[in-house]
Amino acid sequence: MAAAGSAVGLGNIWKFPYIAGENGGGAFLVVYLVCVLLFGLPLIMTEFLIGKRSGKSAYGAFHALNGNNRWQWLSWVCMTTAFLIMGFYFVVTGWCFNYLVEACMNVFKGMDMQALTSHFKEITTNTPRMIVFGVLPVVLTACVLWFDVNKGIERLSKILMPLLLVMMFLMAGRVLMLDNSNIGMQFFFRFDFSQITPRVVLEAMGQCFFSLSIGMGALITYGAYMPKTQNVTRTSIEVIILDTLVALLAGVIIFPAVFAFGFNPAEGPQLVFVVLPAILEQMSFTWLSSVLFFGLLCIAALTSTISLMEVAVAFLCDASAAHNHPLDRRKSVLITSALVIALVLVCEFWQPLFDSFDNITACILLPLGAMGMALFVGWRLPNNGQKGVLHGEKTHIKRWARKTFIFVLRFIVPAAIIIIFLNSLGVI
Ligand code: TRP
Repeated sequence: MAAAGSAVGLGNIWKFPYIAGENGGGAFLVVYLVCVLLFGLPLIMTEFLIGKRSGKSAYGAFHALNGNNRWQWLSWVCMTTAFLIMGFYFVVTGWCFNYLVEACMNVFKGMDMQALTSHFKEITTNTPRMIVFGVLPVVLTACVLWFDVNKGIERLSKILMPLLLVMMFLMAGRVLMLDNSNIGMQFFFRFDFSQITPRVVLEAMGQCFFSLSIGMGALITYGAYMPKTQNVTRTSIEVIILDTLVALLAGVIIFPAVFAFGFNPAEGPQLVFVVLPAILEQMSFTWLSSVLFFGLLCIAALTSTISLMEVAVAFLCDASAAHNHPLDRRKSVLITSALVIALVLVCEFWQPLFDSFDNITACILLPLGAMGMALFVGWRLPNNGQKGVLHGEKTHIKRWARKTFIFVLRFIVPAAIIIIFLNSLGVI
């Protein structure tokens, strides 16, 4: 559940619709689903297994499994990626909190698309708001890590996540009754081969990694906490299904509404923040629906930010201990939060940085991190015997599946990522 909470977040509800909208809808969806099938299972399993075998966070895991520092660079890639993602992710989480507060005050009543668009502009350019709502989610996440209440959050999200799903199903039902909603469904589900460009493929791969929380070591941490008897394959499949379901639902909510309200699907990061309030205005029990939806969205975002910040905090603890200046957990939380707040504020006030963090992490750093981990497990670690990464998974993973798993990590995943990189650079 915790891993599903990390995976399901703004990547599904905010990023997926906006990236799909910019990349032609149906064509993007198909490539995205292929990426999820190709990369999702092996890479989620890889991270879980690295964590489960080593019992360590991203910093300690490579050293512990390898016995030397030669793969330590990978943990630095993970940590850098974590900070860059947090830089823009907290900004968007702040928008969600802002919308939650405004939903409580019924601010969106009677606003048309134009008013909602300028409202979004106002929110993202008003200095005091940007500071308050940029810092607030960082502080909340830091409190969760400080007081070590992850368990509580996890229990809470067991109730709230299904509620979010129910809420999204209701919204999808309402949206599909709007006039012209079929145009949006066609946009989202009609596959047009000619629209698949190298850029679409790169963005789809990046979105797949981002949405599933792959490539940054977040799932290594969760693997480390797994009971030894936990079935890694099954857990990974559950995370993938849940995450993909939420992304698809978000598309089915957003695109029909985009066309019904006469909006542009390629509107960029503001897309869902303009369209969602308009949809919620159409629901019965408008006030309650809006408060509930934005409240749940904030919780979904927080369960993801917790996993992001945890990587950085654990890194700082373990790295400082390895260099003989051990920092305790709470000091690490403080230092990490201070750095993240600085980054978030720069992203708030300088949009090019926001955009490039968003782009660089998904399209370059996450695939690189994931490829590093695939190569590490595929080539570096022994695959059999006591030290093997699959040791202890015997009952869960059959022999042919082990062989396939290692083959995919050795050849298929690295080759696919390299081909997609080269293709997007125009080399092939
Ligand atoms: N997957 C989350 C989302 O969809 C974001 C996220 C949390 C993430 N932890 C991560 C992305 C680690 C990459 C790596 O919102």
